[in-house]
Amino acid sequence: MDGRVTSDFATSMRTHAAGELRAEHAGEAVALCGWVAHRRDHGGVTFIDLRDREGVVQVVFHPQEASEAHAAAQHLGAEDVVRVTGQVRERPPAMVNPNLATGKIEVAAATIEVLAGSDTPPFPIEDRTEADELLRLKYRYLDLRRPEMTKILRLRHDMNRMIREHMQRHGFVEVETPLLTRSTPEGARDFLVPSRAWQGSFYALPQSPQQLKQLLMVAGQDRYYQIVRCLRDENPRADRGLEFTQLDVEMSFVDREDVLAVIEPLYAEMVSELQGVEVRVPFPRMTYDEMLASYGSDKPDLRYGMELATLTDLFVGSAFNAFAKVVDDATPSAPPGRPGGAIKGFAATGGGRLSRKELDGLVQVTKERGAAGLVWIVVEAGGVRSPVEKFVSAGEIAGVLSATGAAPGDLVLIVADRADRVDVALDALRRQMAARLGLVPEGEWAFCWMVDPPLFEWSQEEGKWVSVHHPFTSPADPEDLDPATARAKAYDLVLNGFEVGGGSIRIHRPEVQRRVFDVLGLTPGEIEEKFGHLIRALRFGAPPHGGIAMGLDRFAMLMAGKEAIRDVTAFPKAQSGFDPLTGAPAPVSEEQLRELGIRVVAPPVAAPPVAAPPVGASPVGASPVGAPSVPAPPKEG
Ligand code: AMO
Repeated sequence: MDGRVTSDFATSMRTHAAGELRAEHAGEAVALCGWVAHRRDHGGVTFIDLRDREGVVQVVFHPQEASEAHAAAQHLGAEDVVRVTGQVRERPPAMVNPNLATGKIEVAAATIEVLAGSDTPPFPIEDRTEADELLRLKYRYLDLRRPEMTKILRLRHDMNRMIREHMQRHGFVEVETPLLTRSTPEGARDFLVPSRAWQGSFYALPQSPQQLKQLLMVAGQDRYYQIVRCLRDENPRADRGLEFTQLDVEMSFVDREDVLAVIEPLYAEMVSELQGVEVRVPFPRMTYDEMLASYGSDKPDLRYGMELATLTDLFVGSAFNAFAKVVDDATPSAPPGRPGGAIKGFAATGGGRLSRKELDGLVQVTKERGAAGLVWIVVEAGGVRSPVEKFVSAGEIAGVLSATGAAPGDLVLIVADRADRVDVALDALRRQMAARLGLVPEGEWAFCWMVDPPLFEWSQEEGKWVSVHHPFTSPADPEDLDPATARAKAYDLVLNGFEVGGGSIRIHRPEVQRRVFDVLGLTPGEIEEKFGHLIRALRFGAPPHGGIAMGLDRFAMLMAGKEAIRDVTAFPKAQSGFDPLTGAPAPVSEEQLRELGIRVVAPPVAAPPVAAPPVGASPVGASPVGAPSVPAPPKEG
């Protein structure tokens, strides 16, 4: 060795990556390849910022030292791909850029060669971008050149790397499962794939490999994992995609705590290594009932307080009619799935400073969430201010203030309605108030396990009991399958207000599985047709088993401080489900349909915009990808 720092990035065309050069490379002759990020001239000297995946380095072209290269540099445009040779030099102290990893050095160019020219990009390739999201998605390959996006791809790589190392250390074996499969009920609509060989029949793309991972346990494989794509035809949202990635896990001879003990240290380690924040394990556990009572949600944001207080009893016999009516309805005679009424509220810390207009906005939020209305009470040093002041007694007000722990300067928000609507509305209000009042601490990772949820819930829509998790989840007590009371051996991992994982101990006895299907209203014929393979497998010595699936997109979104999983996906669809890059979904040819035995009978939806990028002409300023004819996303159910 001659003492030089060698590079993993050395190829036949370059000696180093541009972004990896540091002071210790000073004096070395280098060849670099990359994109022209910027070009500027200072007193006859030309500078370019040369970007590659590893970062940016400044290249200097002196007219006297390298006149040919200097002349060539005058013609460079943004995003041209070039190869530069030259020498690494330390910058004079006054020229050091402390904000740049390569900021102590620059490369004095000897030669430059243009490897590929670039059209003018439709938006600047910089971290601060104001470009429209559809435009960024259409030119995603340019968007991904932005250092911020490169960092996100690296983050996801690091997560996967740490996951694989962790699972390896704990005796898990990665097994691939098919994409063309049979529908597994995970509560969403399936994506179907028509079969050419079996015309009229369809594969379903997996909503998750749930049944297959259970079959792997029956197959004696003990500890399975897979980083796997799952597909669900649901209405996309910021935290929900048509396709997404799970860390999917299944284990034999386990109970709940065994599964949680595999996930906790992994997540603590990822937060520690990738965020530099230590979180304590074990994570707290809270029952589903406790979460609903205190936060109105089974995925509360626990970075701040503002717990909900149940106020129903305070308003027994109240002169305030709207509340009194709800109290009457709170008696536990409600039929299945029709929870009785409830009155709950919380004190928004410091919310007393909200304007009348903002308070009216909160009433609107409440109504949009399906609740009848909102009562607000501003707490002041000398008393309270509220539109219902005249209707509620001083005793009732005092009771509310004490139950919610409200202090002067706070805003008490109360919702009275059917219990489930009250929870939905107050959950939304609690999140909004925390954000608006600046109560969400930065850099905090509030993990919590939700445990002991109900096994079944009543579906108003379908008029029957459905599984809260999925039908393979073990009841807490196999003898208690009363759908109104049975609890599930299920758990979710909650982080900062998002469900980042969920799983359960499974049913491993065929007769219990049959009884659960029975509660779900399946006839013996339907059980055999849809789940015969599973029940049969359970009759061949199924080990007690359980598992979990972690939503990696959501976790990456939180790790990257982003608002949507699209922001942390290399090639996402737009929220409408349309892919501006490739133009999917797109019609197919008559010939393809004929082969599949399919005739399209639905009226055609307006064709999505053509996705091919314009060649040659600079699209700067134009809006070639406005996607006006993309169908609007369907309304949330
Ligand atoms: P579940 O349906 O709860 O369980 O999914 C597990 C986790 O996957 C993430 N997730 C999603 N992320 C983005 N977009 C979506 N559309 C989406 N749907 C789910 C969530 C969720 O917690 N087979 C079971 C797991 C098991 O029982 O082991 C399952 O898939 O973070």
